[in-house]
Amino acid sequence: MYRTYTCGELRIQNAGQSVTLAGWVQKVRNLGAMTFIDIRDRYGITQLVVAEGAGGAIRETAARLGREFVIQATGKVIERASKNPRMETGDIEVELTELRVLNQSATPPFTIEDNSDGGDEIRMKYRYLDLRRNPLKTALMLRHRMAIEIRNFLSEKGFLEIETPYLIRSTPEGARDFVVPSRMNPGQFYALPQSPQTFKQLLMVAGYDRYFQIVRCFRDEDLRADRQPEFTQIDCEMAFVEQDDVLATFEELARKMFDSVLGVKFEGAFPRMPYAEAMEKYGSDKPDIRFGMTFNDLTRQAQGHNFVVFDSAEYVGAIVAPGCAGYTRKQLDELTEFVKRPQIGAKGLVYVRCEEGGGFKSSVDKFYSQDDLSSWAEACGARAGDLILILAGDKRRTLTALGELRLEMGSRLGLRDPQQFAPLWVVDFPLLEWDEESQRFFAMHHPFTSPKPEDIPLMDSDPGKVRANAYDFVVNGVEVGGGSIRIHDSELQQKMFRTLGFTPEQAEAQFGFLMNAFRFGAPPHGGIAFGFDRWCALFGGADSIRDYIAFPKNNSGRDVMIDAPAPIDPAQLEELSIALREAPAEKK
Ligand code: AMO
Repeated sequence: MYRTYTCGELRIQNAGQSVTLAGWVQKVRNLGAMTFIDIRDRYGITQLVVAEGAGGAIRETAARLGREFVIQATGKVIERASKNPRMETGDIEVELTELRVLNQSATPPFTIEDNSDGGDEIRMKYRYLDLRRNPLKTALMLRHRMAIEIRNFLSEKGFLEIETPYLIRSTPEGARDFVVPSRMNPGQFYALPQSPQTFKQLLMVAGYDRYFQIVRCFRDEDLRADRQPEFTQIDCEMAFVEQDDVLATFEELARKMFDSVLGVKFEGAFPRMPYAEAMEKYGSDKPDIRFGMTFNDLTRQAQGHNFVVFDSAEYVGAIVAPGCAGYTRKQLDELTEFVKRPQIGAKGLVYVRCEEGGGFKSSVDKFYSQDDLSSWAEACGARAGDLILILAGDKRRTLTALGELRLEMGSRLGLRDPQQFAPLWVVDFPLLEWDEESQRFFAMHHPFTSPKPEDIPLMDSDPGKVRANAYDFVVNGVEVGGGSIRIHDSELQQKMFRTLGFTPEQAEAQFGFLMNAFRFGAPPHGGIAFGFDRWCALFGGADSIRDYIAFPKNNSGRDVMIDAPAPIDPAQLEELSIALREAPAEKK
């Protein structure tokens, strides 16, 4: 046996025992007669001591140790003279009787400490070293724990975990597909699934009325902190259910997770907010409801005073930043710069200071009287000492920009505590979304989502108004999951494809298998998929999902450790009947 205990296990009760530990050298401190070695493994750190009277062999071995050497250490557990309350094993140390180097280590490119001095790229390149650090270890342990809890919950509820293929044909889910060439079918390609959507629906047709899978999904889209090209879903589907059944089942799962993993309990049902309300009040379909600061529509009041910015706007909206009337010129300029960023896209920012002593000061005093400003303050519920921030322009874009400004103010005012959780369901999403560029409708969720039955007649007359039986699970401004009740009728499915601009031939070629399956007794069904990486990051209090994935990609979609993607051998290309248009090197 290499070890009798792990490096995180020994306590004062073990004093007097002879033990063997194995692990990595965290650090060595040479204090004249005595040498202290911190030995680390996944479970913790234990202090080893080479005592004054130790033999020459041990001394020699200790003298040539370096950081990250792998060692095996045998000795006696003794009570420490000076205890370290910050270490779980801090009451004891192990006085060495034997020390063996199991393997040497090159000097690591960054130190393996909680706060590493390595930059992002270098840590990604040596991910196996980064993974030795506590923050990553904690993240992966949280992920494991959550996966187990989820599996147990769903299994107890009768869900079967069933695997679905990775080599499939394209399922439109809104992103680009990653494709895989087929050697045996020259000129043809598989697509990696953006989600197992059609397969889980086929499993419902097959009668497996409760399915789940913790499954990898692949999407070739621009990356952000909460997006990876391959990520994991908790993918679920149920037959013979309506929207309320799905929400009740997965609200129970969410509650169970909050309680058992974080010890957080919620009173009452999670709020359900229609999409339209989320957009009007928060400017987002994933509102952070940890704080208020909801929107006030000032369009009517603000127009007709010769201020052309407001007069020409489709929408004038305001938020109230409590207690911020004293914001300096510099702070207001910063906020203006913030809303003018291209990704936010506002043209400018109007403010009204509600002064402590009464009275108002605004950036539009030329156009509005004190009475006008007072009526705005009243409409917004602003009090003396508050700051009103106003954006104007085309409605959709202004709502979104105001939503970003609201989040920014929430952060500045410390209203977005990561330890506080505010879950909700966003419901009644529109079925379709108009795309100006291609002049056609797209499915807002995916083409298999069912319209609300009462809105089906609108599909012909006013498709943009049709609401879907679709829902998102949102926590603290993060879209943790999303799903819908599906269409299970092949005629309605065909109508949906028509509305999305598919010719009958295109629909048949791409989804014939599904419409065909629907001819053989498809039960009513619906489901949801949670973004597992996002859920882990949320519970871990992190903004980025990267550290909850053992081997993630960087922002350019590269794995810098294994250096992928990479060119392939000309012979491989030949075998796949693929000719590159230009050599990649020239392209660069
Ligand atoms: P959707 O596309 O909303 O739905 O995805 C479900 C959830 O997956 C997470 N997610 C991601 N996480 C990390 N990186 C990404 N690139 C990424 N993209 C999505 C989000 C999201 O809420 N088949 C449907 C589900 C259904 O209808 O049942 C689907 O995939 O947290």
